[in-house]
Amino acid sequence: MMVETSTLGHFHHQRLDLRRWVPAFFTSHKTLLTLLWIAAFASVFLWQRNIVGGFLVYGGIPGRPMPMLRPMAFNLTDFGGVGDGVTLNTEAFERAVSAVSKFGKKGGAQLNVPPGRWLTAPFNLTSHMTLFLAEDAVILGIDDEKYWPLMPPLPSYGYGREHPGPRYGSLIHGQHLKDVVITGHNGTINGQGQSWWKKYRQKRLNHTRGPLVQIMFSSDIVITNITLRDSPFWTIHPYDCKNITIKGVTILAPVFGAPNTDGIDPDSCEDMLIEDCYISVGDDAIAVKSGWDQYGIDYGRPSMNIMIRNLVVRSMVSAGISIGSEMSGGVSNVTVENLLIWDSRRGVRIKTAPGRGAYVRQITYRNITFENVRVGIVMKTDYNEHPDDGYDPLALPILRDISFTTVHGQGVRVPVRIHGSEEIPVRNVTFKDMSVGLTYKKKHIFQCAFVQGRVIGTIYPAPCENLDRYNEQGQLVKHSASQNVTDIDYDF
Ligand SMILES: *[C@@H]1O[C@H](CO)[C@@H](O)[C@H](O)[C@H]1NC(C)=O
Ligand SMILES: *[C@@H]1O[C@H](CO)[C@@H](O)[C@H](O)[C@H]1NC(C)=O
Ligand SMILES: *[C@@H]1O[C@H](CO)[C@@H](O)[C@H](O)[C@H]1NC(C)=O
Ligand SMILES: *[C@@H]1O[C@H](CO)[C@@H](O)[C@H](O)[C@H]1NC(C)=O
Ligand SMILES: *[C@@H]1O[C@H](CO)[C@@H](O)[C@H](O)[C@H]1NC(C)=O
Ligand SMILES: *[C@@H]1O[C@H](CO)[C@@H](O)[C@H](O)[C@H]1NC(C)=O
Ligand SMILES: *[C@@H]1O[C@H](CO)[C@@H](O)[C@H](O)[C@H]1NC(C)=O
Ligand SMILES: *[C@@H]1O[C@H](CO)[C@@H](O)[C@H](O)[C@H]1NC(C)=O
Ligand SMILES: *[C@@H]1O[C@H](CO)[C@@H](O)[C@H](O)[C@H]1NC(C)=O
Ligand SMILES: *[C@@H]1O[C@H](CO)[C@@H](O)[C@H](O)[C@H]1NC(C)=O
Repeated sequence: MMVETSTLGHFHHQRLDLRRWVPAFFTSHKTLLTLLWIAAFASVFLWQRNIVGGFLVYGGIPGRPMPMLRPMAFNLTDFGGVGDGVTLNTEAFERAVSAVSKFGKKGGAQLNVPPGRWLTAPFNLTSHMTLFLAEDAVILGIDDEKYWPLMPPLPSYGYGREHPGPRYGSLIHGQHLKDVVITGHNGTINGQGQSWWKKYRQKRLNHTRGPLVQIMFSSDIVITNITLRDSPFWTIHPYDCKNITIKGVTILAPVFGAPNTDGIDPDSCEDMLIEDCYISVGDDAIAVKSGWDQYGIDYGRPSMNIMIRNLVVRSMVSAGISIGSEMSGGVSNVTVENLLIWDSRRGVRIKTAPGRGAYVRQITYRNITFENVRVGIVMKTDYNEHPDDGYDPLALPILRDISFTTVHGQGVRVPVRIHGSEEIPVRNVTFKDMSVGLTYKKKHIFQCAFVQGRVIGTIYPAPCENLDRYNEQGQLVKHSASQNVTDIDYDF
């Protein structure tokens, strides 16, 4: 019904346009008649196209049709959904997901979320499901914590991260799933984090805040072409998952006053690709993790084989790309390339502490650009935040085989700060092709302590004494006199 009325409106609109300009150019009735015929045909064509498109928005401008990505598609409104921003749609989502779950053996099904503001409490996804968000579709998380279910702590954290005991689940949640896609025409999932951040600051919450999207113990997960904003806590948290792609996603939160709104936290995950994303948030844009101290060591699931590329990120209070500090299951084979970090406190960072155990190794950074970043490259080995007193201070993490190739930028205060320690020295670090413009040309700009490794070719600014120097041909020019020299200055 709505389709026909709006199309008629469209037709009238075109004829009116025609009347306005036609007399100025044409006098012959014949030409006018022909033109009217063309206009009529064009209108019928447009009308048919709109019918195929399936829906119209904004009184006649055709909305982008939602593609069929599964053999079966549902519309949230089929389950009683109301997109007025006020009605609670939790049951509509639950009924829809339950309907989708019946199609698992038939190639799965798709749930279309049409334009509108769809308020909901947390709900679960199912396997072989595509959640498709139309352009101008917004899933709004209800900000009253009474509606947020509590879940047991993550096994590799043994603790709710902010409070002992249980934690809030995520707005969009899934466990033990396979083949899940969250995509759309850049529709939005909005966590309405403002009241959560405020309650957190005022210490009015008794449990750890929930992430926006958390998928656990799952595989074959794709998140593309959507926007996520204002998460109460971490934004996308894949936990103990395999084969995950996150592509073409925008993640936003205020750069100040939005505590712990990390963009993406790959946690004990393997085979993961993150590419073509824009992330500007109130904590780390990306933080690769794998559990916390004795709980993470016991759980023993590393994060590995992770490719992060073609990203623009910004983090005024934390870092662009972090590894750790919770890395007690180990982190290996992470590549970060074609990355622009702008207006940020830190660029790329690895952080750990005694008690974490495990390792961070085989980490490759390539083609990294800093634009107005306070500290470019950071390694910190005394990030002493522990779940409880039960950690083993002798569980010392290993940091090694870390390379930086092609690092450029400008407006950087301290390009490098590698703070190894006697207990946790950093080994086999390589720098090649680096030139970073500084905000101040003083001492302490390439800071090191307990670092072993090399620079190859010319590096700007001049590297610390801890590193061996090689020429472009790979021949040793100067052996480091002392890998243990300490030149760390946090005031700078
Ligand atoms: C979903 O249903 C609503 C309400 O019936 C309708 O306006 C919209 O066009 C439908 N969307 C799709 C993609 O079927
Ligand atoms: C969502 O899934 C979790 C984990 O499987 C479960 O504990 C919870 O009860 C589910 N919630 C709903 C509303 O089904
Ligand atoms: C998606 O929406 C966000 C937020 O409005 C916008 O910043 C981004 O440019 C959009 N992405 C695309 C590909 O249109
Ligand atoms: C937190 O716990 C206190 C004491 O048990 C209680 O009064 C308060 O309502 C709780 N707050 C929330 C947000 O659950
Ligand atoms: C990874 O997941 C994608 C998307 O579901 C799937 O097409 C692909 O076959 C999976 N790869 C492997 C190796 O299972
Ligand atoms: C994402 O959007 C881009 C640009 O509109 C499009 O080319 C691509 O096919 C979309 N990807 C997915 C997986 O939907
Ligand atoms: C390292 O990770 C990449 C994905 O980024 C993968 O293609 C490659 O096979 C992994 N290498 C090893 C040795 O596992
Ligand atoms: C390096 O990264 C930038 C994005 O920061 C990209 O525009 C450029 O093409 C990359 N260069 C190469 C050689 O891949
Ligand atoms: C040092 O690290 C590089 C990767 O950055 C690796 O190829 C090399 O094998 C490592 N050397 C040693 C001695 O482990
Ligand atoms: C440097 O410190 C390491 C321990 O981190 C130690 O094994 C090594 O002997 C020290 N080297 C020198 C030259 O003091």
